Amino acid sequence: MPVVVGFTFPGIHDNAACAIVDGKLVFAAEEERYSRHKYSVGDIPETSVVRTLGHLASLGIGPEDVDAFAVNWDLTQIPMRNLKESAELFLHNSKPLQEMNYMVSYPSFAKKMIVAGLKGRTQAELARLFIQGVYRRMGARFPKNAKVVPIVHHLSHAASAFYFSGFDSCAVLTIDARGETDSTVLWDVKSGEFERIATVSFWEGSIGEVYSYVSMKLGFDELSGPGKVMGLAPYGSHKERLASKFASIGTVCEGGDSPYKFSSEFRRRNPVEMYTRIADFLSEGLELGWSSEGELCRDAADLAYNLQEFTEDLVVGTGRWSIKATNRKQLAMAGGVALNAKANMMLYYSRMFEDLWVFPAANDAGAAIGAAAYVHQNVLGGKMKHGRLESLCLGEEYDDRVVSSLVKRSKFRAKFIGSDPNPVAQALTHGAVVGWWQGRSEFGPRALGNRSIVADPTKKDSWRAVNAIKGREFWRPFAPSLLEGARDAYLEGACDHKFMVLMFRMSEQGAARVPAVCHVDRTTRPQVVSRPDNETWYDLIKAFGDLAGDPVLLNTSFNLAGEPLVQTPEHALRSFAISGLDALYLQGWLIEKSGN
Ligand SMILES: [Fe+2]
Repeated sequence: MPVVVGFTFPGIHDNAACAIVDGKLVFAAEEERYSRHKYSVGDIPETSVVRTLGHLASLGIGPEDVDAFAVNWDLTQIPMRNLKESAELFLHNSKPLQEMNYMVSYPSFAKKMIVAGLKGRTQAELARLFIQGVYRRMGARFPKNAKVVPIVHHLSHAASAFYFSGFDSCAVLTIDARGETDSTVLWDVKSGEFERIATVSFWEGSIGEVYSYVSMKLGFDELSGPGKVMGLAPYGSHKERLASKFASIGTVCEGGDSPYKFSSEFRRRNPVEMYTRIADFLSEGLELGWSSEGELCRDAADLAYNLQEFTEDLVVGTGRWSIKATNRKQLAMAGGVALNAKANMMLYYSRMFEDLWVFPAANDAGAAIGAAAYVHQNVLGGKMKHGRLESLCLGEEYDDRVVSSLVKRSKFRAKFIGSDPNPVAQALTHGAVVGWWQGRSEFGPRALGNRSIVADPTKKDSWRAVNAIKGREFWRPFAPSLLEGARDAYLEGACDHKFMVLMFRMSEQGAARVPAVCHVDRTTRPQVVSRPDNETWYDLIKAFGDLAGDPVLLNTSFNLAGEPLVQTPEHALRSFAISGLDALYLQGWLIEKSGN
């Protein structure tokens, strides 16, 4: 029974850990949910590793029983010059020492990385140092013969896409900002054998870096910006002047050895200079001095629109190129750009693939899962369980007694309703915005019914109200969760997509019925829910549908501005207490603020 623990290489971002036992993904957790430091930039995945080992213990597997550790980067692949430059950048961006409460402070970790790089030593040594440190702090015995295996970053993403796709063989596209040196890779995967068909390095052109750097020009930050800009884009329009500027940066290739090419004119000494130059060039002459909290800025929206259009063209063109190069009609995707649900939609509606699967934790946290799956099958000789990923509720859950005692201590007005969703559904039809917390936490960037904020989507005003409660810009859109049987009444030509990484167009009638979850371009990014996925969640949507006529809920992540998703019942109760939420469902308890 091979046991693999996967973790992200410490000190980058989206830190996470996971466990695969006998080919099955049994647990996955993200560091930010515990540290409350969004994207865990510059942190190390210490708590997530501890919780992963804790979960294994609950299955009767001790820390000493782990056969291998898998890491989602292989820094030996980075040329020396880039390694030093990356390390310097990390040092520059790292949090002040006094904020660090870890056994390995980030700057010292980066220093070790530089030294290891200069000595030509492997990154596996650093990863081993880290994981042994976690064991030491836990007082656990480190498994003597355990391997620590670094997996190339894009291969980690590719493995996450393939092993959870349910495909026997398929093309895999990993489109990211940057890996060790890659930005886009096309793989042909046959029964677990990964053949690299084409590679675009970040020197040759990174779609993800262009998106990030333009997002920064628009006033957002590198990691949270792209998602916001995708939501801003539909407020803008196609501008010939901008479109031709984008075309002069990069275009799709119909043949050759690469799916797209960037102009060499923008190449610089390092990626920071290169992509800063591109973003400067694109924003020249535009009035971007806006506050995203204030009125919409025309130039900002137009730049976002044309950036999105450029991205869609390159992603769809890369898809077309993939078919020619591999002859595969099934496509699996991962990497940061695969979180661009609108570009995925364009690929989906092109109908060029018979089946399209996007690994929902397409970010670097998910690459830890891919690395673990790859090591399980290709290093330990195990066999990954076949089939498409059914659920991302892979994190910790909390005992009912813990929740009950917390509720009682809080002195909030609370009633135990168990799994009866009707009181919550009724509150929603009366206009309440409700925090919804239950069961195992979700992995990846989307709330899927266990750490969600829900509201009535039939009232357009819910859009404004929920943005105000969460402290988000008023223009940012919301997504729906709907019952599988209702899919075709609201969406055009959609499939049963469970994870909110694929957008669809709404039907005219659907858009009219649930206006709070329909964006201004009539698209939406749904979660299609079946009862076996999550019974209480399904029952809530159904109960709401029985009352309101539409089995659809506005579903957004349960967090306040700038925070990661809530993890523990304490986080949920605290957010409820300090926000404008009207009610909170806390694993069986319905809590309301007095005066409601
Ligand atoms: Fe990545």
